[in-house]
Amino acid sequence: MNMRVFYKSLLFLLGKFSLECITVNVAAWRTADQSTTYRHWFAQNALDGLGSTCTHTDEQSDPWWKLDLMKTYSVNRVTITNRPDCCSDRINGAEIRIGNNSSDLFSNPVCAVVSSIPAGPTYSYSCRGMKGRYVTVNIPGASKILTLCEVGVYVVGNLATGKFTTQSSTYKLWFAEQAIDFSPGFIQPSSSCSSTDIQTNPWWRVDLRYIYRVSSVVITNRLDCCPERINGTEIRIGNSLENNGNNNPICAVISSIPAGVSSTYTCNNMEGRYVNLFLPGDSKYLTLCEVKVYGEGVIKQADLVLFRKLIMIYSFQLQSALAERGISDMNKEMTMMLGEPTHSSEL
Ligand SMILES: *[C@@H]1O[C@H](CO)[C@@H](O)[C@H](O)[C@H]1NC(C)=O
Ligand SMILES: *[C@@H]1O[C@H](CO)[C@@H](O)[C@H](O)[C@H]1NC(C)=O
Ligand SMILES: *[C@@H]1O[C@H](CO)[C@@H](O)[C@H](O)[C@H]1NC(C)=O
Repeated sequence: MNMRVFYKSLLFLLGKFSLECITVNVAAWRTADQSTTYRHWFAQNALDGLGSTCTHTDEQSDPWWKLDLMKTYSVNRVTITNRPDCCSDRINGAEIRIGNNSSDLFSNPVCAVVSSIPAGPTYSYSCRGMKGRYVTVNIPGASKILTLCEVGVYVVGNLATGKFTTQSSTYKLWFAEQAIDFSPGFIQPSSSCSSTDIQTNPWWRVDLRYIYRVSSVVITNRLDCCPERINGTEIRIGNSLENNGNNNPICAVISSIPAGVSSTYTCNNMEGRYVNLFLPGDSKYLTLCEVKVYGEGVIKQADLVLFRKLIMIYSFQLQSALAERGISDMNKEMTMMLGEPTHSSEL
């Protein structure tokens, strides 16, 4: 199977993703694991957004479930949804751990111990910013069964890191992504700040890819010249792309930022996927040397769920396109690529 051909056919049909976007996310698709799996109660079932599909280990000593976040995060809290149908007390005594050791999970520090959860509800456990790449749930003892219907991992930090940025126009090589490159560019702003060309109503946007609760936005102004150009820039946060996202609610309006200074704007947990900087007026440049977006967000496999739905919608066209390229069994290839389908309904 030529994966490149396969991706290209997909991309052609979906027309919504970039190659980078899909390949990057492949890594995030296979992040959950458990000590043993009972029938079809897979480890990923705790991440599909559905409280009705659950994970289930065999009866064993010290069963565990593990989520690999793929990098270190500060974990604010972890939520666990217990099974609704029976045996709710099996969860009693489960330990939630956060740390970096993937082989010896029991060496990672404990964030909380579940005393009990009734059948069905979701309980939240505070982890106070504990840092680690792996989140695990384990039940110490002999003859135990671990079942989790949903696990939510809420992380805090700079949500803009590595996300997709865009701007209304680009001045020379002052690309949009240079505003989130961790370099304020005081020495060579052209290679580490973003800037639009001179225009009416310039804007810059970062797509956080999930809906987050944004607590604050930090903006670093340029050092080399013209700090007053940033005066009047609006910070907007929301889920709409109407008017390129510039109609979303306002968190703050920047009155001014001195040259080379980073100013923090509090957004009181405004919810949104898009963070825009919008500068209304004629003959304006919008230049940003660093933008950081702090807040709390849940880590999910939502991408995979959305991807599957798109595949289902486009499956007919996809099948024809693949057949032309000599690939006949789409379902088999999809299963090889993505694992067993999860069950979800709405788009
Ligand atoms: C995991 O690694 C990160 C980065 O190296 C570190 O900051 C954090 O303290 C580590 N976590 C634990 C539990 O050791
Ligand atoms: C994980 O724990 C094992 C056993 O305690 C230890 O030998 C190993 O060095 C640890 N690995 C990391 C990456 O900390
Ligand atoms: C920008 O704000 C600064 C500080 O308040 C002020 O001194 C300056 O006159 C403003 N410039 C413009 C063009 O609005």
